[in-house]
Amino acid sequence: MSIRVVELFAGVGGFRIGFEGAPGTSSNNRFRIVWANQWEPSTKKQHAAEVYSARWGLSPDNERPTLFTSSSGQNDVFVNEDISTIEASEIPEHDLLCGGFPCQDYSVAKTLDKAKGLSGKKGVLWWEIHRIAEYHRPSYLLLENVDRLLKSPKGQRGRDFAVMLASLEDLNYVVEWRMVDASSYGFPQRRKRVFILAHGQGTPGHEALTKGGSPKYWMEEDGALARSLPILPNNDGEPTWFCLRENKNDDLADVSDNFNTGKGGKDPGSPFLGTGVMVNGKVWTSKTTPRDVKSTLTLGDILQDSERVADEFILTPESLNHERGWIYLKGAKRELRTGTDGFTYRYSEGPITFPDALDRASRTIITGEGGKGASRFKHVVKFRPTKEQVERMGLSSEGASLVREKIGLKLTEWVRRLTPIELERLNGFPDNHTEGVTDGKRAFFMGNALVCGIVSRIAESL
Ligand SMILES: C[S@@+](CC[C@H](N)C(=O)[O-])C[C@H]1O[C@@H](n2cnc3c(N)ncnc32)[C@H](O)[C@@H]1O
Repeated sequence: MSIRVVELFAGVGGFRIGFEGAPGTSSNNRFRIVWANQWEPSTKKQHAAEVYSARWGLSPDNERPTLFTSSSGQNDVFVNEDISTIEASEIPEHDLLCGGFPCQDYSVAKTLDKAKGLSGKKGVLWWEIHRIAEYHRPSYLLLENVDRLLKSPKGQRGRDFAVMLASLEDLNYVVEWRMVDASSYGFPQRRKRVFILAHGQGTPGHEALTKGGSPKYWMEEDGALARSLPILPNNDGEPTWFCLRENKNDDLADVSDNFNTGKGGKDPGSPFLGTGVMVNGKVWTSKTTPRDVKSTLTLGDILQDSERVADEFILTPESLNHERGWIYLKGAKRELRTGTDGFTYRYSEGPITFPDALDRASRTIITGEGGKGASRFKHVVKFRPTKEQVERMGLSSEGASLVREKIGLKLTEWVRRLTPIELERLNGFPDNHTEGVTDGKRAFFMGNALVCGIVSRIAESL
């Protein structure tokens, strides 16, 4: 029997690929997505949903066109509606609930109306996950978030994660988490994300940890995350521990008000380190050193051949030489700038590696990676243009020679942005998974997505 998975905030399906393999392959039938949800609040057109339904061969329902089903008869439903408008009872029973969701303000207040009890801020998507988990009580939750989650908000470091853990404790889950840089496990992108795995009552993890199992042993050796993403034992002794609640009966609003408030206005930093577990409201946490992997894929390993690169990805000599062009933006600067309030200030920043190094994992893909405009953060790689590309792009002009001189390129070399396929490869998606929308959108999807192979590794150990 397969493990039934519900995928929330599905985007273009990174979790699904991690669990099931690429669409159309049956590399793994131990996991099956039985229900998925994706809705983009900022645009009318639902591009990610279009990609998702096309790749997994799902068609809209005649009566409810935002509901997609598979014609293959497989029990496979995708809903393109705001998750907050969906009744939990509409979602089928499942064993594992997964999703990558935004880091927002998770604070909780007591409502004036005592009967209603507690309320989190409106529109905060964590509470949607919590609502569905509360109704269905799946055996596992696997969640992904940016590393900032462990440290936010600024004035009360770690509060949001503490509220999240306490709310999972209220549902009787034990939780382990790990900050993972994908490149530490051989993937070609340096992408740091926190993976949170909650084990429900009756699962081996819940049994082990609630019946006196050693949190250190779980974190370093025996836990699902330790087995999938091995780390070195921490020789600094036992992990530090603390309680989420000051008093045993504190509710979520108390955790929200009192967690790590600091003394005398000093920022005490977040108590949550790179790896940890929470059992019955008690947290153990320690620093993480990934165990060496034998080989890491590099940015150079995933590049397409020059002939496959369309002209729009090749930088023009003008866009490089322009006074606010690529070379300027990537370089070091110390200059006077004027703010919107009219005040002048001194701005300075160092250079960033330009072009990007090909012999190691890439920098993190961000949502603004697409589009022709010059940018400090988009990736730019060195390549050998074809004869035709040299001619079409004017790469033997005087302007081009000046560029080569400024950034140290050989006569046969030039620079370009990454193609949508290369961005997909950096996250472990199949080539052309996001085809069908603009390149800017494709890059945006990859900036939002995750490294699918990390999910596969966790799936393996589950
Ligand atoms: C961080 S991305 C997740 C990306 C995904 N893991 C992937 O592999 O592509 C979060 C997703 O949640 C979606 N989203 C935001 N608000 C939503 C809502 N209210 N209901 C459903 N989906 C929402 C966004 O459109 C975005 O695709």
